[in-house]
Amino acid sequence: MGPKKLKSALSNLLSKQKEKQKQNEKQKKTEQLEQERKKKQAASQKQQQKPPYEFLDKILLVGEGNFSFARSLVENITNGGENLVATCYDSEEVLYEKYEGEAKDNIDVIKELGATVLFEVDATQLEKCKALRKLKFSKIVFNFPHAGAGIKDQDRNVQSNQKLLKSFFVSAAPFLQSKTAGDEVDGEIHVTLKSGQPYDLWSIRTMAKATDLLRPKTAFPFVPSMYPGYAHRRTLGFKEGQSKRENEEIADKKPKTYIFVRSQVMQEDIEKSKEGMARKRSVMRDLQGPNKKKRRIEAAQSESDED
Ligand SMILES: C[S@@+](CC[C@H](N)C(=O)[O-])C[C@H]1O[C@@H](n2cnc3c(N)ncnc32)[C@H](O)[C@@H]1O
Repeated sequence: MGPKKLKSALSNLLSKQKEKQKQNEKQKKTEQLEQERKKKQAASQKQQQKPPYEFLDKILLVGEGNFSFARSLVENITNGGENLVATCYDSEEVLYEKYEGEAKDNIDVIKELGATVLFEVDATQLEKCKALRKLKFSKIVFNFPHAGAGIKDQDRNVQSNQKLLKSFFVSAAPFLQSKTAGDEVDGEIHVTLKSGQPYDLWSIRTMAKATDLLRPKTAFPFVPSMYPGYAHRRTLGFKEGQSKRENEEIADKKPKTYIFVRSQVMQEDIEKSKEGMARKRSVMRDLQGPNKKKRRIEAAQSESDED
């Protein structure tokens, strides 16, 4: 075999070895990416199967009805009531009248467990509530907000609920914990709504974005059974024989919890995600190998090596 042929055979052998090595690396990276995808999927499924509240969360509840959600949190999820401030729009007198004893029972229990209960708190003017001043929360929760204005005209009804949401967002945002201010976590606002008409017309995400203070983070189904004892109530209250029991009111309405964070936090997340995407793209480029043009040049070079 002449030196040229020997050189060409050697070069072929080397390029075959290189190709094999590349294939192995490609396989390894594909497996790594698949593992990461599965891990992320499992984490997101797990998040949806458990309530989005932690033992040490510092929670503000607004627009409570019979305070059964507050009671369920302190009895089942949080560190007792120490870190819970539960509020309602009604006065104490009106509330007890509207919810026929059940609100009083629940309030007695959560107070016993250390929770703070406040009446006549307007969720759209939280800054006016002296007891809330200087407090910051990891979660601010408004379950099934409703302006309850009894407006029959659908457009005007939607508008009044949009106004309630937007004003609540503006008022609540400054009460969120913030890592940049030295808090352990960045706080979240949770709003649960029924799905379908007219609730979808409320465009809750648009309302939050319109404040410029908040951005939607995620949303997932609200599963009432995750909160033992929670019994949804309408704004009008509960009347034995007239109102629906337990959670019949929301059972077939596919309720969803929408989570919002301060815009700044979302921006940081977007930056991180962009970095992640760039890393992923570079891995994909490696996996795909040199582009077509480069491959053609290499092929031409290896042909000319033959001569
Ligand atoms: C459909 S009920 C839901 C009650 C309760 N959150 C639940 O899940 O059973 C709507 C609630 O929104 C409250 N609400 C309406 N406007 C409010 C406001 N500006 N501030 C605080 N709560 C308000 C009403 O008082 C009522 O309790």
